[in-house]
Amino acid sequence: MPNRRIHRQNRKPLVTDTPTPKRFASLGPLTGTIHVPGDKSISHRSLMFGALAVGETKVSGLLEGHDVIATADALRAMGATTERSGKGQWSIHGVGVGGLLQPKQALDMGNSGTSTRLLMGLIASHGITASFTGDASLSGRPMGRVIEPLSQMGANFTSSPGGTLPLMMTGSLPAIPITYRLPVASAQVKSAVLLAGLNTPGITTVIEPVPTRDHSERMLKGFGAELTVEEIDGERHISIHGDAELSPQTITVPGDPSSAAFFIVAALITEGSDLLIENVGLNATRAGLVTVLKKMGGNIELVDEREVGGEPVADLRVKHSRLQGIDVDPAIAPSMIDEFPVLFVAASLAKGRTTTSGLDELRVKESDRLSTMATALKAAGAIVEELADGLIIEGSDGVPLPGTDEETIVTHLDHRIAMSMAVAGLASKGGVEIDDTRPISTSFPSFEELLAESAS
Ligand code: S3P
Repeated sequence: MPNRRIHRQNRKPLVTDTPTPKRFASLGPLTGTIHVPGDKSISHRSLMFGALAVGETKVSGLLEGHDVIATADALRAMGATTERSGKGQWSIHGVGVGGLLQPKQALDMGNSGTSTRLLMGLIASHGITASFTGDASLSGRPMGRVIEPLSQMGANFTSSPGGTLPLMMTGSLPAIPITYRLPVASAQVKSAVLLAGLNTPGITTVIEPVPTRDHSERMLKGFGAELTVEEIDGERHISIHGDAELSPQTITVPGDPSSAAFFIVAALITEGSDLLIENVGLNATRAGLVTVLKKMGGNIELVDEREVGGEPVADLRVKHSRLQGIDVDPAIAPSMIDEFPVLFVAASLAKGRTTTSGLDELRVKESDRLSTMATALKAAGAIVEELADGLIIEGSDGVPLPGTDEETIVTHLDHRIAMSMAVAGLASKGGVEIDDTRPISTSFPSFEELLAESAS
């Protein structure tokens, strides 16, 4: 029986509750073994593709963060059923491609850009109307980037000024297949168009000048979609055959490298640390942070490299290291796009200067991550210069940051800012006070628990 009550209990509202401030201070070395929760991108896609397959898809290791629960809630509102049999153990009974039903209420996407943009893609080729709402952070984020290609496919949108939520859309049946070259390096836009293409007659193609995370491509093939990827003049051409039929799958979700990132950096910058982080996804389109931190002198060993659910995975043994500032090549940005906030923390403790550039996309994440991190790190005593498309950071060469005294870090409902500044607090003299820990539950509900566990 679908168990709605469990999902609702998991989902503490972000905006209506009062903020939960917290001071993060040095906890001593991080040691022992931890296991990070399931990958957020793969968890969203497991639910969505399962909801489009006919029959039962079984998922283990699903991330039960608020963002993923928002996706599950929306899919149930459109006719799929989900069951939760234990922690991270879910099964989904899908409606078949083309079978989504019109939701009776607005779809509340909370803080989740991935849920919103991918579901907009799905709905674009169904003959249904849906409204999307979200929290203050999500309601400020640009949706024009998906509205544009999906309108070309025939969907209609009425958005708030500036192409933002709340918005209402009506899909087109049949939709029109398109060939679309991505104007921004975005896996969400790529995926939205490919998902719309599933229920569109003919072939829908996305041209990707810069490769972004490829979970949609891998998983759609696994579910039986006819999808091809060709490299032409250095660009990826991804084509999906429409009127697809998806067959249910059994999926094991690997650990999220974007969540592991906080513990990798925490162990590198905390003296005496020697931490084993188990089950970390290391898909090449996601593993940029490990490459950059190793270049900075980080002692990160890949142990027991293997495949989980069709994705490369390893355990990471991370030891405290003397980091060296570097110039980060902007070409690596898409493979670590969510990890820059915590890289900026690592750079603040490194020896010498770290420069980053080509990071305009960080300004339209859950917050403007360039300005939020520059302000936050300066408040904690780091030396940071904010440029239009990156930060320049003069590191302390391992000397703990002073920390925040009177000031409280404003996290702007951004989970990754909250966790990054918590990590900065570990390497500070006086601790770092952040204004609100609630958003952490969007992607990493067990973050504080694991931090306490690894430091004891
Ligand atoms: C995601 C893609 C990225 C990333 C986000 C998850 C995905 O967003 O920042 O956290 O699952 O496709 P963009 O596509 O906006 O870069």
